[in-house]
Amino acid sequence: MIWETLNKRAYVPYSQKPGSCVVRGNKGGLYAGVRIESISFPLSIPAVQAACCICLSEGETPTTIYVQDKNIEQLSFWVEEYSCSISLDIDFKLPELSNLKKELPSSEITVLKEILNNSVTPNSDFPVSAILYVQGGCFEGVNVEVSGWTMGLCAERVALAKAVATGTFDFLDIAIHTRKGEFSSPCGGCRQVLHEHLPLQKVKLHHADGTFSQHFVLDLLPFSFAGTSLKQSKS
Ligand code: THU
Repeated sequence: MIWETLNKRAYVPYSQKPGSCVVRGNKGGLYAGVRIESISFPLSIPAVQAACCICLSEGETPTTIYVQDKNIEQLSFWVEEYSCSISLDIDFKLPELSNLKKELPSSEITVLKEILNNSVTPNSDFPVSAILYVQGGCFEGVNVEVSGWTMGLCAERVALAKAVATGTFDFLDIAIHTRKGEFSSPCGGCRQVLHEHLPLQKVKLHHADGTFSQHFVLDLLPFSFAGTSLKQSKS
């Protein structure tokens, strides 16, 4: 059962309420998204946002949003944004791990530069690309912007959302690139989210001026919010 499988992949240690969604793009592609909660609750990624941003990052526009429950967070925004239909009927098999690139890039910066072209940046014209390495391959991500500024996702979080939706939690390093500005560096929100999933791994920064630096995620977020009194149990 699709929803059972996807719901198991959701990262919901705080609510224990999984959410999942599958989006069909205008070229026929199917993109799954699951809810990813953050210890800083407003940084959580609802399943529909994850699936729609993944779909857009792959060069498609959402047309149908498949959900188990119409009360899922953010559904109405995305339905309106892309005039999507909502479907409770599943007429497909669970999308394969198609987002996982099994072959690692021979040149990281070449791939990061190439995928910058997939970013969707009508508001900022500031494309960002990311490669998140996992056991057995990697996931690519680019930033996605929509009419509601807070509804888009950074490149790092698109890559993470793809990985989590495919059931991957064995994260390795993440590489990031921006074409503009001298220094490429993850925003505070991404530092927080990366810290929750890959604190001991490295962030490899390919700066716009051609230089490179790498840092432990842990070092990029000193005195981070631990919220030790927040109730958390494994979902
Ligand atoms: N952005 C990222 O993709 N990653 C970051 O770490 C910094 C910001 C994107 C989000 C938005 O599309 C644009 O850059 C301007 O904020």
